[in-house]
Amino acid sequence: MAEAAILGFLQNNESIPDSGNFAAELNLDHEEVKNVIKSLQGFRYIEAKELKRETLVLTDEGKKYAAEGSPEFHFFSAVPEEGSISKDDLEKKLDASVFKIGSTQAAKKKWVAMGKQVSRKVQHVEDKVKESLLLIQQGLELDQESLNSLKTRKLIVTQGWTGYSDVKKGPSYAPKRKIFATDLTRENLQNWKEMGFKEYNFNAKGQPLDAGHLHPLLKVRKQFKDIFCQMGFEEMPTNNFVESSFWNFDALFQPQQHPARDSHDTFFLKAPSTTRELPEDYVERVKQVHESGGYGSRGYNYDWKREEANKNLLRTHTTAVSSRMLYALAKGPFTPKRYFSIDRVFRNEAVDRTHLAEFHQIEGLICDRGLTLGDLIGVLQAFFSRLGMPKLRFKPAYNPYTEPSMEIFSYHEGLEKWVEIGNSGMFRPEMLQPMGLPEDVRVIAWGLSLERPTMILYGIDNIRDLFGHKVDLDLIKRNPICRVGIE
Ligand code: PHE
Repeated sequence: MAEAAILGFLQNNESIPDSGNFAAELNLDHEEVKNVIKSLQGFRYIEAKELKRETLVLTDEGKKYAAEGSPEFHFFSAVPEEGSISKDDLEKKLDASVFKIGSTQAAKKKWVAMGKQVSRKVQHVEDKVKESLLLIQQGLELDQESLNSLKTRKLIVTQGWTGYSDVKKGPSYAPKRKIFATDLTRENLQNWKEMGFKEYNFNAKGQPLDAGHLHPLLKVRKQFKDIFCQMGFEEMPTNNFVESSFWNFDALFQPQQHPARDSHDTFFLKAPSTTRELPEDYVERVKQVHESGGYGSRGYNYDWKREEANKNLLRTHTTAVSSRMLYALAKGPFTPKRYFSIDRVFRNEAVDRTHLAEFHQIEGLICDRGLTLGDLIGVLQAFFSRLGMPKLRFKPAYNPYTEPSMEIFSYHEGLEKWVEIGNSGMFRPEMLQPMGLPEDVRVIAWGLSLERPTMILYGIDNIRDLFGHKVDLDLIKRNPICRVGIE
């Protein structure tokens, strides 16, 4: 309707000077006229200038007075031409609001003398308020003084009005809008001369890919994996979440009464509750070293129980994988090795914003003759420098399977503080010797979680937003590629 009216009008006329008047004359909705002008302007069928005006409109009270007359006029009319009327009688005769407002205004205008008795001061009055309001309703001009008084009495208010002026033909003007083809179909191409084609929008985004997306943990894992590979490490097979207590604890010289072996910290399996087989001669040597030591150690001096070692659990650390690998390595003629793994581990933890009952561990170890603590520190420096964390500090720590042990701290430039990033140490002879590794072989090793660096890299402060059933799928679809500061 409005579109045909505008385009049709411009076919025979130079311009539409005012969209408001145009809409009023043709009995069109001005909002619709405005929308059509905007759209036609976008396609350059027409040109138009924006028009802003302030208009005066009557409030509800103003509309009432315009229709019925002002309260002061009604008040005056109720006072007899001659003589007087008591205020009380007048109040009874009139509407409460007419009496209240009317009496004040009529007195102010000196139309009446107010006292106990009310009488007229003038013979005749004109209802200027009503007249002024009617003029405004018709959109006519009014003197400033009258406007101000109507505004103070809140009978009129100003309202912003927008429309268009100077609406003219544009460079693509046509009396009827062409529908632009958006597809290159056979029919469209056959009629290309008559058709208009929508222009290409080279800034439009592509369709979102309906494909799989990598989780941030997988991206960070790839970065760690690349660094290990660049440094000549081989990946250990980690595809067994279920492990026996033997490989997870006993082989690591962790005594059977150690609190970590309690069900408060470790998930034990109900079925199958025990492991089927262990290498018997090695088990015997492990039992020996726990009970009475050897290889220069005094051992723990307790009664080592096979049943405890047989118990199945969800591995609590990937060092269980390292113990299996070192045992396998010890079986052949010795060759130096660099091993790493990145996989899932489980702990019976109370879940909070930094802890989950399952998470991922990154583990690295080097096995060679004559390694020292200096080698461990040097390797850690090289490893973390490649991750963009060259500033390291070490703090003495304790692990049942390493001596010495060190916690690793790194200076975080963003957080401006030292943060703990991992744990490390040299595997004890009590762990390595029963496996059958040569006496001068040393193993330096370290471990850290994958979640912690991922949270720092992706700015996530609650681990439950990163991993688990509450993770927003959008996080996985939209997270950027991961880059770490390789030096
Ligand atoms: N297993 C240790 C942990 O779970 C990490 C570690 C690995 C410590 C290797 C020392 C040597 O925290």
